[in-house]
Amino acid sequence: MQVIIVRGKEEMGRRAAALIAEQMRRRPHFVLGLATGSSPLPMYQEWIRMNKAGELDFSTTITFNLDEYVGLPPTHEQSYRHFMNANLFDHVNIAKAATHVPDGMAADPEAFCEAYEAMIDDVGGIDYQVLGIGSNGHIAFNEPGSSLASRTRVVNLTQRTIKDNSRFFARVEDVPTRAISMGIGTILEAERIVMLTYGANKADAVAKALEGPVTATVPGSALQLHPKVTWVIVEDAATKLKLEWRR
Ligand code: F6R
Repeated sequence: MQVIIVRGKEEMGRRAAALIAEQMRRRPHFVLGLATGSSPLPMYQEWIRMNKAGELDFSTTITFNLDEYVGLPPTHEQSYRHFMNANLFDHVNIAKAATHVPDGMAADPEAFCEAYEAMIDDVGGIDYQVLGIGSNGHIAFNEPGSSLASRTRVVNLTQRTIKDNSRFFARVEDVPTRAISMGIGTILEAERIVMLTYGANKADAVAKALEGPVTATVPGSALQLHPKVTWVIVEDAATKLKLEWRR
């Protein structure tokens, strides 16, 4: 695994944006796996800058997002589709029809999950997957205990996640209790992976995922099984690492 430790989240965003852009320029119809949340935002801002400056073209890029809440329409401002439009897709020259976010309103969510995997296969798989990690070690909505071989599926959100998310909704009853999430097995099939992380609250999860045993209780540790992973970590999230990653 490659570990890059940087000073701040802007540098994290620039480094990760450049790593992926280098691969995107080599191949038309590049397939990106994307995440929501705060971790990838500095990278999305850098991509938007690069796109406006004519340094990076998204016109033939295809994207698949990791996850979406079940029961939220794409227009809901807490939906991950809304997040992706607002924070990336609306600001670059990507074809919206080539952007895929799991359909939280699918009549048959289980069948949708199978179809989502088939769509990824049909375009030849994900070339570069972007990830963030939860403070409990989760990746996508694969909470601790998720099988390392899991596929895209409907997952129940933990009480902790529901409570954490309730701040974004008017009433706690409005918080979705289920989500569609790519599985850990699905994520590991990407050709390359970049993990973005910052913040002292992530330091334990980063240390366990990078230096602890590979275990389903720390889903991020599954990345140790992948041959081409780059972690771009802001130093405040790297304080609990013990091995000599710094060069
Ligand atoms: C987002 C996702 C989540 C986040 C993780 C970290 O699509 O799948 O696993 O990556 O919860 O979230 P932030 O970046 O907000 O700290």
